[in-house]
Amino acid sequence: MINGRIGRAAELLSSAHAGIALTGAGVSAESGIPTFRGEGGLWSQYDPVKVASIGNFLNDPTAYWSVARERGPAVLSARPNPGHAALAALEEAGHLVAVITQNTDGLHQDAGTQRVIELHGSGRTVQCLDCGAREKRAEVQSRLATEMPPLCRMCGGIFLKPTVVLFGEAMPIPAMQEAFALARAADVMLVVGSSLVVYPAAQIPLAAVEAGAALVVINAEATPLDRHAEVLIRGRSGEVLPELAALMSPA
Ligand code: APR
Ligand code: ZN
Repeated sequence: MINGRIGRAAELLSSAHAGIALTGAGVSAESGIPTFRGEGGLWSQYDPVKVASIGNFLNDPTAYWSVARERGPAVLSARPNPGHAALAALEEAGHLVAVITQNTDGLHQDAGTQRVIELHGSGRTVQCLDCGAREKRAEVQSRLATEMPPLCRMCGGIFLKPTVVLFGEAMPIPAMQEAFALARAADVMLVVGSSLVVYPAAQIPLAAVEAGAALVVINAEATPLDRHAEVLIRGRSGEVLPELAALMSPA
């Protein structure tokens, strides 16, 4: 049955004039990066507000950096999986205009996707909130064993923060505007590996559906938007997306 659904998704995407994808943590799960929700998700181990809200970060960045120290090796050593590669191939073949992502791991760019819209920023850079100095996240990881929280190399400040959106922080307006404009112009919206419970990101597929796009949801578990999906594929993105890409006729 799943092949019928992937075939239907391929048909929709092949005939699309403006296909767009929205991805979440599930698309990086097969690269070894644990998701936030669903089975074994990070938020089943930690309180997201305590470890990943801007309020608590500014009160004491230690909670954030203690989790980041633990999660760092998996994220920093992660490589794109066949799901990322398939999305890059779909963009290259003209079936996707862009990939909008909630992920901050940079794996879509590593896989070769040219137009990536990072709704929650990038976890590859950190910035000092006191003096603005920037540093590579990978460089900070190396000193977390002896420095907790890590100190700014320029001013010695304790508020080194990855350039990602923490809970309670404003979303990057240009990225959001671009994402909603693409969603409203899309005729097919692919959502892959997201629990679709975090807004405003989860509003994007809804905007696409309201504007008449056909929604294709590829996810390991149910999402609140499944009822809007023209095609619902329960599966692993690293397996489903390459199958989908292989079925696509040249744009
Ligand atoms: N293939 C497809 N889906 C998968 C896979 C996989 N291999 N592995 C897990 N999933 C699904 C899970 O079932 C879950 O529904 O991916 C989804 C991941 O959901 P979340 O962990 O909630 O990730 P996401 O939707 O991206 O979270 C949104 O929440 O914590 C914040 O800022 C964080 O960007 C994140 C946002
Ligand atoms: Zn500084």
